[in-house]
Amino acid sequence: MEASANIYHDLTRVLVTREEIKEAVSKLGKRITADYQGKAPLCVGILKGAIVFYSDLIREIDLPLRTDFMAVSSYGAATHSSGVVKVMKDLDMDISGMDVLIIEDIVDSGVTLNFLKGRLLARGAASVKIATLLDKPARRRVDLKADYFCFEIPDEFVVGYGLDWNEQYRNLPDIGVLSPAIYEKA
Ligand code: IMP
Ligand code: MG
Repeated sequence: MEASANIYHDLTRVLVTREEIKEAVSKLGKRITADYQGKAPLCVGILKGAIVFYSDLIREIDLPLRTDFMAVSSYGAATHSSGVVKVMKDLDMDISGMDVLIIEDIVDSGVTLNFLKGRLLARGAASVKIATLLDKPARRRVDLKADYFCFEIPDEFVVGYGLDWNEQYRNLPDIGVLSPAIYEKA
């Protein structure tokens, strides 16, 4: 199969534009800066979906923050969560006593973040909060609320700005709804 020349052809529509994202990320950075005054949070990015959001967001936070990453997998190539969370890459540092801010691309079923939050609290973090770019509340399977989110979105599979389908579309600067024809024929 040949890759489409213009990846926008694989979308049914653009859901959030790059301008809207930029404004929301800047606003969120200011909120986090205010909420964590006097603290030096550890910003934990969840690989790989959060990479674009993470790199934009931390530059909007005016605090002496630290950075680390985790990679977890709950999906495979499918468009629905399997409910099983596997840690592929763990944190490099000891987080006891630290104020941890998890930075994630999307909260869907909530299974991934519910698992991570519990795990990080069990390691003695002083606090664990969640900042997510997107929230899909319609699909929640566990009782989990993000402390910060930029956009609430409907129950559709989206790609772009770090979010993928089959490791593709992460480089789209906007967030769009992936045409079901793409994953139905896969
Ligand atoms: P949860 O455990 O169901 O909340 O799944 C969270 C993870 O599923 C996210 O970190 C994403 O990698 C992936 N995911 C959920 N919904 C979408 C989507 O609409 N597009 C791309 N990835 C998604
Ligand atoms: Mg993903």
